[in-house]
Amino acid sequence: MKNKYKDLIEQTFDFPQDEFSVEDNELNLYDIPLMEIIKQYGTPLKVTYLPKISSQIARAKRMFNVAMAKVDYKGAYNYCYCTKSSHFSFVLEEALKNDIHLETSSAYDIHIINALYDGGVIDKDRYIICNGFKRPQYVENIAQLVDDGFENTIPVIDNKEEVELLDAAIEKKCKVGIRIACEEEPKFDFYTSRLGIRYNDIVDFYKRKIKTNKKFQLKMLHFFINTGIKDTAYYWNELGKCLNVYCELKAICPELDSLNIGGGFPIKNSLNFEYDYEYMTEEIVAQIKHICEMNGIEEPNIFTEFGSFTVGESGAALYSIVNQKQQNDRENWYMIDSSFITTLPDT
Ligand SMILES: Cc1ncc(COP(=O)(O)O)c(C=O)c1O
Repeated sequence: MKNKYKDLIEQTFDFPQDEFSVEDNELNLYDIPLMEIIKQYGTPLKVTYLPKISSQIARAKRMFNVAMAKVDYKGAYNYCYCTKSSHFSFVLEEALKNDIHLETSSAYDIHIINALYDGGVIDKDRYIICNGFKRPQYVENIAQLVDDGFENTIPVIDNKEEVELLDAAIEKKCKVGIRIACEEEPKFDFYTSRLGIRYNDIVDFYKRKIKTNKKFQLKMLHFFINTGIKDTAYYWNELGKCLNVYCELKAICPELDSLNIGGGFPIKNSLNFEYDYEYMTEEIVAQIKHICEMNGIEEPNIFTEFGSFTVGESGAALYSIVNQKQQNDRENWYMIDSSFITTLPDT
């Protein structure tokens, strides 16, 4: 009778897959024998396979560059890593080997930027995209970064009051972005994202608060869909709406030159994951190019902020099965030496 976990996997998925292989009945992840690691360090254990981080970044850069070449796209592609996805220094240092930029979401993240600079890992010309709702300490830290000469810091304005807060705190001239508040997916309980400024308000907000302020230069429009980059009518519709705002703004703000499409590339959360990254990348780039062409404007530089995509598949959590519990005549639960929630941060 086939009632082992291995049997279930074999019946349900194609296995082994790219990341996994089985040798002498033992599992390898990226060719690393996991049982060796377990023998050495025990379980529960969290491991990070750093080369995967660099290979994911290289993969995204390659896909965007190929997509851009295919449609003769004039703008550049800039890969940003969002620090919130993993704050570990070994993760950031690996990511930063790949000539990338950074995105921050809180006051704490700015200390990371300063620590990376002090450690000689980055210089002051990286793009530092400061997203998120700006609480007072975050505003102060951003201002310090700009006034310290991080000339490509771009605070992305998340709500209208932030302009005044940033204006009061920053001395030097500063590039800024505006985040568009996307409409949520139709089946979601809420209509509009809590982050960003509503589509219809953006042009007027720019005219009244940014254009009139000599300190600020609008460089970027930011757009992020919570549910990620998916091949759905909803995603393409939101991207189209965002591009229309971009074109409208560009007509009155020639210095605007960048579109940030946020994060949202999915990752392999299960063994039956399928996603055509190349197709999605090509379609995004082609849509941006097409809408800009129809409006007679230069295509923007494209920024992304892939978090899960950068780090998600580099990590593994290893547990031992310590017991089995037969809870009824069919269901047999494995008990592990941890819980996904309670011990992971410490392991
Ligand atoms: C502004 C912004 N950028 C990037 C990300 C990262 O998203 P992901 O991990 O799906 O790539 C998020 C996630 O919430 C986000 O809010």
